[in-house]
Amino acid sequence: MLITIPDVLDKKELDVVHDFISQANFVDGKLSAGSEAIDVKNNLEMQTSDQLMAQLNNLVMGKLVRHPVYLNAAMPAKIASPFYAKYSKGMQYGNHIDDPIMGPAGQRYRTDLSITVFLNSPEDYDGGELVVQTAYGEQRVKLEAGNAVMYPSGSTHRVAEVTSGERIVAVTWLQSMVRDPAQRELLYRLSQARDILLDKSKGEEETELVSNAYINLVRMWSDL
Ligand code: NI
Repeated sequence: MLITIPDVLDKKELDVVHDFISQANFVDGKLSAGSEAIDVKNNLEMQTSDQLMAQLNNLVMGKLVRHPVYLNAAMPAKIASPFYAKYSKGMQYGNHIDDPIMGPAGQRYRTDLSITVFLNSPEDYDGGELVVQTAYGEQRVKLEAGNAVMYPSGSTHRVAEVTSGERIVAVTWLQSMVRDPAQRELLYRLSQARDILLDKSKGEEETELVSNAYINLVRMWSDL
């Protein structure tokens, strides 16, 4: 399941992000590539002072981790600090799946979901779609600046070649409290139904029944 997370960053926040990014250096992305990715990865990754990186992460991740769609659809247990990547003309990232375990010793986590936050406008570049293989065929994703997409880390995906302009994204990975994607999707759908009922019929019997079923399914299926 691909999930769009809308409006992670607003226009003002994007301006701040662009200001931070313009002060940073970008280096060959192969330096951080896992074994599966190294042959197909052709992009640039941001390298900057710890202080600037911390400010940038506070802004981008601070907004992402409070987003209700993110919280309900991912049920996150652990999330990594993001990479900031740039794709200039001619750059792409060929088909791969993401490494199953990431993070330094002592902070390892399993990658259940991958997230791309689009940081510049789709009008700023041609090509550069995130292309994800799903059970229902290939899905091509290119979102407005400030929106994010979340997809299973184990699905084959690539970034199509940028044929003009520049594509700037933040990418990160997370371990979910609910390992099974089908269970996670059911919980997400049920949380949506629960939110509608809480909005329209707060205090009614059906609201309590659905809400209790949701809460106890989370208890049944989650691991920390
Ligand atoms: Ni990837």
